[in-house]
Amino acid sequence: MTAVTPGKIADTATGQAGGAGPVHVAIIMDGNGRWAARRGLPRAEGHRRGVEALRRTVRAAAEQGLRYLTIYSFSSENWRRPQTEIAELFSLLRRFVRHDLESLSEQGVRVRIIGERGNLSDDIRALLEEAETRTAANQGLTLVVAFNYGSRAEIVEAARAMARDVAAGRLDPSAIDEAAMSARLHTAGIPDPDLIIRTSGEERLSNFLLWQAAYAEFLFMPILWPDFDGKALAEAIAVFRSRERRYGGLGAVSAGA
Ligand code: FPP
Repeated sequence: MTAVTPGKIADTATGQAGGAGPVHVAIIMDGNGRWAARRGLPRAEGHRRGVEALRRTVRAAAEQGLRYLTIYSFSSENWRRPQTEIAELFSLLRRFVRHDLESLSEQGVRVRIIGERGNLSDDIRALLEEAETRTAANQGLTLVVAFNYGSRAEIVEAARAMARDVAAGRLDPSAIDEAAMSARLHTAGIPDPDLIIRTSGEERLSNFLLWQAAYAEFLFMPILWPDFDGKALAEAIAVFRSRERRYGGLGAVSAGA
């Protein structure tokens, strides 16, 4: 496989120009609460069905040739939710890691976690580390779980790391470039997302992958996350393939190609 330069724009499924792609899809899994409310069910049921949608989507992502799937499972702003709902989301994460790690590993999935770990409990931190270490050698899809993640905090932390490196004489200020920043983000070594999907019809990034999204295509789908499946993913990929990515250059038509 083509080596990935941190922060480099990932262009195609093959790493070659002109391929079909996407290599990396990131998803804001939104609409669990509304899915439940429409059925007169508790919000927690929406989240539980959201985990089932996640299982389907991971399988489908590998089958449909993606190399990276990033999911926004708990944002640093989600702490504002009621304590009971936060507890439910944490317990779903625990169950997901405990029950699904084996099957993810059998599928060749490698798990990476991004987000702030400092303020998480020891057992959750240990669980996240276990998910990463137990799957580290897998060669299939990389599932990037954004947990307790906030993009601005990630960028601030990277800036702080660079300042420390400059102060210690390890980094020359003139050597600070996009690659230096990318290498200090939680996503270091992961190609930028080609496509970012948000379900439920909301059209916001909500502090998700702000730096990494520089050249991503966006797709806002009306489907609520618990209803998402391989068919919805295939539709999203088809829309992506129908778009022309120009990276600030001229498109084929404007350039007279
Ligand atoms: C948004 O729905 C979804 C979330 C805040 C969490 C997403 C979590 C899961 C799919 C399950 C957890 C998975 C893991 C691996 C921990 P919402 O509650 O904002 O829905 P609403 O906007 O309709 O209220």
